[in-house]
Amino acid sequence: MSAEQLSTEIIREALNTKLVGRNVMYYPTVSSTMDAAKMAVLDGVIEGTVIVADHQTAGRGRLGREWLSPPGGNLMLSIILYPRLEHLARLTLVSCLAIARSIEEVTLLETSIKWPNDVLINGKKISGVLVESDVNGDKVNYASIGIAVNVNLDVKSIPEIADIATSLRDELGMPVSRLQMLTALLGEFEKVYKDMCKGEPIELDWKRRLTTLGKKVSVRCGDVVHKGFAEDVDKDGNLLLRLPNKKLEVISAGDVTLKV
Ligand code: BTN
Repeated sequence: MSAEQLSTEIIREALNTKLVGRNVMYYPTVSSTMDAAKMAVLDGVIEGTVIVADHQTAGRGRLGREWLSPPGGNLMLSIILYPRLEHLARLTLVSCLAIARSIEEVTLLETSIKWPNDVLINGKKISGVLVESDVNGDKVNYASIGIAVNVNLDVKSIPEIADIATSLRDELGMPVSRLQMLTALLGEFEKVYKDMCKGEPIELDWKRRLTTLGKKVSVRCGDVVHKGFAEDVDKDGNLLLRLPNKKLEVISAGDVTLKV
C-alpha cells in the first residue's frame, strides 16, 4: 500500500479539537519533531501547536536513544503546551492514557501501559512518549510531548525491534488510516489533558491499564538500578517501589524490567 498522504490542510480539516491541533505544522522530513517544536517555541507559536512528520532523520527516544521509523507508515508528532508547573510531571501519564484509549477506539485492540511511557499490545510496544520541557523557577517555558505510534510499520523490516515491537497493521492484518488514528489521538489527548487540568482523577484509568504493578522489577535510572516490588503509583505517575529493606522508593523515571 502506498503511504497515506498527510498535509497541514488535510490534518487541520480532519480535527475536531479546540486546543490541541488548533495550529498544525506538517513536515515531509525533519530531523526530529522535538527539534522543530523547540524552534517553533522560539518563534512564539500558540499552545496546542502540533508538529507532524512523515520522516525523521534523527528521531530520538527516551534516555538518549535513537527512534527508528521508516518514512510514511507511522505517526510521529510533538504537541506543544505551556502548562502550569504542577501539571508537568503528569504529561507522560496523560499521553499514555490518550494513546491507549484512541487505539482502542480506532482498532478495538486491547492495550496496556508499561510504566512509565510505553503503550503495549499483546506485550509488545506499539507507542512511546518522550516529554521535553524548559523550566525556569516555577515557570514552565514550554513542554513538548513527542509521540510515536507504529501504525503501518512492518515490524519485521527493522530487526533491532522485531521481537519487542508491534504495529496496528501487524496486529490487525490490515492497514490503518494514519489520519483517523491522529484525529482520535489528538481528540483523546485534549479530553484527558483538560480533565487533568480540572483536577479529575485521570490516574485511575491509567493505573487500571498498567502492567507493571504487583510484580518484582528492576528499575534502571541512569547508572543506578533499583530492585524491588512495584507496589503502587501516585497521582503524578511516580512508581512506588518497595525495596528489600521495606523502604518505599518514589521513582519518577526509569527503565523497568521484570526481575528474575
Ligand atoms: C520512547 O519510547 O523512547 C519515546 C519515543 C518517542 C519518539 C517520538 S517520534 C516523534 C517525536 N520526535 C522524536 O524525535 N521523538 C518523538
